[in-house]
Amino acid sequence: MRNIVIVGLQWGDEGKGKIVDYLASRADAVVRFQGGNNAGHTIVVDDQIYKLNLLPSAVLRPGKVSLIGNGVALDPYALIKEIELLQSKGIEINPDNLMVSESCPLILSVHKAKEALFEDSDKIGTTNKGIGPCYEDKVGRRAIRLCDLESQDLLDQRIEVLLNYHNIIRQGFGSDLINKEDIMREILGIASKILPYKKCIWNILSNFKAEGREIIFEGAQGTFLDIDHGTYPFVTSSNTIAAQAILGSGLFSNNHVVGIAKAYTTRVGNGPFPTEQKNDVGNSLFTRGKELGTVSNRKRRCGWFDAVLIRQAVKLSGVSSIVLTKLDILDSFNTVKICIKYKCGNDEFDYLPALYEVQEKLEPVYEELPGWQQNTYGQRFSHKLHINLVKYVERIEELVGVPISLISTSPNREDIIVLKDLNFLF
Ligand code: GDP
Ligand code: IMO
Ligand code: MG
Repeated sequence: MRNIVIVGLQWGDEGKGKIVDYLASRADAVVRFQGGNNAGHTIVVDDQIYKLNLLPSAVLRPGKVSLIGNGVALDPYALIKEIELLQSKGIEINPDNLMVSESCPLILSVHKAKEALFEDSDKIGTTNKGIGPCYEDKVGRRAIRLCDLESQDLLDQRIEVLLNYHNIIRQGFGSDLINKEDIMREILGIASKILPYKKCIWNILSNFKAEGREIIFEGAQGTFLDIDHGTYPFVTSSNTIAAQAILGSGLFSNNHVVGIAKAYTTRVGNGPFPTEQKNDVGNSLFTRGKELGTVSNRKRRCGWFDAVLIRQAVKLSGVSSIVLTKLDILDSFNTVKICIKYKCGNDEFDYLPALYEVQEKLEPVYEELPGWQQNTYGQRFSHKLHINLVKYVERIEELVGVPISLISTSPNREDIIVLKDLNFLF
């Protein structure tokens, strides 16, 4: 029995939420293992649109267990707000079907305040959810973790350590100092609501594995936002590649990795983007794809499919098959382009070099394929797909070296075409 890890292969927003929800119908549990409420995963069920930030995409499936692993940066207020919003829509969420790791570092107001202080100098274009500062405190060994809420004495000491650091920085900016009582009040204001969900997740997952229960690991963000492997410094503050599923959950297992990629490319926030189209093509992808950020409502930058990036992402995460989403957005194009390599001066690259200065100057080399100019929105049958669309998919498979198992043709939960039998995954 192998579990499934779902990761984004681009810069996030590939449609991970929809695909996790689809696969969750055949699994027992879904685990988030990194990131926080910087993620925005959209699932459309009938006429209802759900935008999940922290909650795993299994919450909409009755009888499934949702888990938040130790690798997640947890904003307790955001989590409770999200739970209450879904409960108000009739979704059942309780400590039997939602469990949160006791080791999660907490995002507090000090983290959002620190992010705001550095916003102008950093120019990353973050989601302003305090994600980076929270992970900094985790690695700096001064974070407050969910388990710390159990003991007020310990909490008192932990807040002191945390504020010693943050107040030195605030002093440097000439900002008001934060006092211990305010943070204590902030934490105690949410403790009784969040503590019922606190669990020993690694142990629960280990038991699930022993019982042969099927687990899906739900990645957030995408490969090129990975803190080590992404377009640094224009990245998020966690590892987003598949190896993190093990570290961020505490379950060591031999997983199938399924990568999610859009049939074109988008990026929200700043940073290199070789195939970006600041022209009619980009505008058309933006409009047809409704490419507004789920979390920050910012315009997503749009461009052609980049096979160099995807090939690299496949290698970094050991991806065994790909789900290609939003093919319907390319329906109206006369021709479609795929980036097959980069040029930079006299040099050619078949991968994304690490150096920012080089990444910024890369010129994509494209292959141009005929478009299909046929409506595929909502299509569920592979035999009805236009031959040119099939050729586009097959060319991508050739270029990236792994099969495309599913394609998605609308936001709706049901609109998926199975190209390769998924039984091997389960
Ligand atoms: P995630 O962060 O990877 O889960 O992706 P987001 O939810 O942020 O962004 C993907 C957007 O595309 C959402 O609005 C989805 O409803 C939508 N979507 C997903 N798959 C498809 C598809 O195949 N076709 C179309 N038209 N929209 C899709
Ligand atoms: P999902 O899971 C797209 C981007 C931000 C910014 C950078 C750092 O929905 O795919 P952060 O707040 O994480 O410190 O911001 O990362 N970013 C995302 N872009 N989808 C996401 O998540 C993202 N989460 C963070 O825009 O460029
Ligand atoms: Mg998203």
